[in-house]
Amino acid sequence: DSIKIFSPATVANVSCGFDVLGFCLDSVGDEMVIKKTSSKGITISKIEGYDLPLETKKNVAGVAGLAILEAANVNFGFDVEIYKHIKPGSGVGSSSASASGVVYAINELLGKPFNKTQLTAFAMKGEAVASGNEHADNIAPGLFGGFTLVKSLEPLEILELPTPTDLYATIVHPQIEVKTSEARAILPKHIQFKDGITQWANVGSLVHGLHTSDYDLISRSLQDVIVEPHRKQLIPQFDVAKASAMQSGALGVGISGSGPSIFALSKGETTANQVAEAFENVYKNTTIDFKVYVSKIN
Ligand code: HSE
Repeated sequence: DSIKIFSPATVANVSCGFDVLGFCLDSVGDEMVIKKTSSKGITISKIEGYDLPLETKKNVAGVAGLAILEAANVNFGFDVEIYKHIKPGSGVGSSSASASGVVYAINELLGKPFNKTQLTAFAMKGEAVASGNEHADNIAPGLFGGFTLVKSLEPLEILELPTPTDLYATIVHPQIEVKTSEARAILPKHIQFKDGITQWANVGSLVHGLHTSDYDLISRSLQDVIVEPHRKQLIPQFDVAKASAMQSGALGVGISGSGPSIFALSKGETTANQVAEAFENVYKNTTIDFKVYVSKIN
């Protein structure tokens, strides 16, 4: 009646796929312990790592847990302990990890009555508490693994994309805070038609590259002409870090979710580690604290 799970960090957008593409980081994430309780509802008894609300309705895991419980219509409840390793506001899906972790765990303890798309919908209720709007581009890769594409929110339709076997992510997280709401507020209301054409050509090409393990095509498709030009000003040293990672052999570099983390994709672990070193060399010459990590994508 108790389960301990690992809930992964995720990278949303993946350059050209704003609000639709995402991938799962294999080796970075939170741990959670979920226990069945005789009383109904969700309690959050412990959060370690970061200062977040314990009150169920103010906590993303609490609200996501209530959503799955309501659908399951059972006369018991669950207690949640969260051991957070993903810093909130870092751009690698911290709130999503809490939301998707709790619904995954409760579904396991209930005997798996819900499919992954249903779990995504429950987790989105929790995610909305943190970000103000329901979106699934971090939740879906956390629950499905690998690369996902959110084809539509209504009806909710998630596509699982294949991951080439040798694809690695390198993440640098400058320790500054970028609020998703602010990173969304600076985006233009309208885009140029020609930029739309470039962007959807890139999304289609990236998806094709993932299907055919065409690393060169993946590289040429990791380009964002719509969002990155506006958001990169929120991230100190973005252009320098990007150029340096590309010189070290990265296939592509972009903003992870709404930032401030930056992701790079590489073919092979050796290159991913060289990119990590390039990121380190950029930020160690600044006053900004930072963390760098490498993760395989599965
Ligand atoms: N797609 C979202 C954004 C992800 O870029 O605003 C951040 O939660």
